Amino acid sequence: MDIEAEIRALQLDSAEDNNDVVNPEDAKLEKVEKEDEVEVEVEVEGMKDEVHGRSQPGQAEPKVKNKEVVALEDAEAQEEMETNKKRHLNVVFIGHVDAGKSTTGGQILFLSGQVDDRTIQKYEKEAKDKSRESWYMAYIMDTNEEERVKGKTVEVGRAHFETETTRFTILDAPGHKSYVPNMISGASQADIGVLVISARKGEFETGYERGGQTREHVQLAKTLGVAKLLVVVNKMDDPTVNWSKERYDEIESKMTPFLKSSGYNVKKDVQFLPISGLLGSNMKTRVDKSICSWWNGPCLFEALDCIEVPLRDPKGPFRMPIIDKFKDMGTVVMGKVESGSVCEGDSLLVMPNKAQVKVVAVYCDESKVRCAGPGENLRVRLSGIEEEDILSGFVLSSVVKPIPAVTEFTAQLQILELLENAIFTAGYKAVLHVHSVVEECEIVELLQQIDPKTRKPMKKKVLFVKNGAVVVCRVQVNNSICVEKFSDFPQLGRFTLRTEGKTIAVGKVTDLPVA
Ligand code: GTP
Ligand code: MG
Repeated sequence: MDIEAEIRALQLDSAEDNNDVVNPEDAKLEKVEKEDEVEVEVEVEGMKDEVHGRSQPGQAEPKVKNKEVVALEDAEAQEEMETNKKRHLNVVFIGHVDAGKSTTGGQILFLSGQVDDRTIQKYEKEAKDKSRESWYMAYIMDTNEEERVKGKTVEVGRAHFETETTRFTILDAPGHKSYVPNMISGASQADIGVLVISARKGEFETGYERGGQTREHVQLAKTLGVAKLLVVVNKMDDPTVNWSKERYDEIESKMTPFLKSSGYNVKKDVQFLPISGLLGSNMKTRVDKSICSWWNGPCLFEALDCIEVPLRDPKGPFRMPIIDKFKDMGTVVMGKVESGSVCEGDSLLVMPNKAQVKVVAVYCDESKVRCAGPGENLRVRLSGIEEEDILSGFVLSSVVKPIPAVTEFTAQLQILELLENAIFTAGYKAVLHVHSVVEECEIVELLQQIDPKTRKPMKKKVLFVKNGAVVVCRVQVNNSICVEKFSDFPQLGRFTLRTEGKTIAVGKVTDLPVA
């Protein structure tokens, strides 16, 4: 059975996910209306430090809160006002190993003036010493020694840059299959994805093969809430490609049906463009006609600038999954706001412990802010809780409407590819990844199988299922975890199941026990 073709049946991209869009103009936060649908992202552990541009202050706040900020007269408030004008987007770079994700990410930082020539020269020398001449651009993102020696990203790299309309946080995911959990962590924080594909002879083919990470990353990204994809066909400068239109068209035509079958609406949510990450062509400015005569579309920065994303709800109940915590004049937690807003002085709960806390300070990037809205990556200083009493995967939550904490839930699962000879039945154990939670789980009961064609439950009682099946089941975890129904908060209700380092299923939470 064609697994990719079946994934769609799971409908993780329920139509409403993509309906409400904000264009960059609206994102200047003139007035953000409350919407029923909340489209927000998740944070997971395993992030390394931000590598560059950490000094960009500010954050996108809901308009209501801006009024308070406007009233302030001190310099800090002024700065907040200035920077609030731009929307903020998290963009994850995904794709097969060596496709050029780190090189492209590094080049973006170079082109946006955050890395000087001297540093580049230093990296060139270092790369040469390691017999990895062409890797110097990737060194901007690949900051640790292991990554530089092996030429492979391990942890998700983080950096910031800005275009005309938008402040971006880049999350540079690793492509190697051993590091898929780290990729999941990066993708689960992202609003949009840049899928990097190598056009070099043979490389596109390997990445696209079954078992290649081009496929796995696309499927995971969709599941994890990456609403839109820019597919950059990279290495167009390579001698085997030489900006060939035929090669570009071949890749686009092969990728399109696959992206469709993974749940992306290719017309609305996907855009292709050719680049050379290494040379920086068609990135900040459009590629010169003398290099590529046939390309009339946008360059990467332009495409990123105009990408529209689902509206987030600044007035929804507050939810911030915690990815990390540390002690610093109290307890500081890190995470991304998935819903609602937070202000200094707010009373909140740390779930699932129901610990009452008070917000002492809110930091967005390096700057202290009064309030912050959904989509922002924050550090929040809390009083009323010890650092030891918090685990990553806990959720900072509204008191009035706290996030549910459960040890069991009902889910609809799409089985992708089980380990060889494995069957999926009651008693199946796997590792559950949902927002910043990583937890052992067990399938306790298969309730019904869904016919992928009609999407209706099948009559026959189901005892086991195979690859490609869609099945509703009860999932149990040992420790209480915070999840939401997918229909309420898609980002907090989608998950992946992994066994022995392989993603075997993607799913959505359909029902929670009554509290
Ligand atoms: P992982 O992090 O291991 O998944 O790889 P990656 O996708 O980050 O690839 P990386 O940026 O490390 O680049 C891999 C190799 O491809 C390096 O040798 C780069 O110099 C080369 N490369 C990347 N982009 C381009 C490009 O646009 N043109 C050419 N010719 N080579 C490129
Ligand atoms: Mg990399």
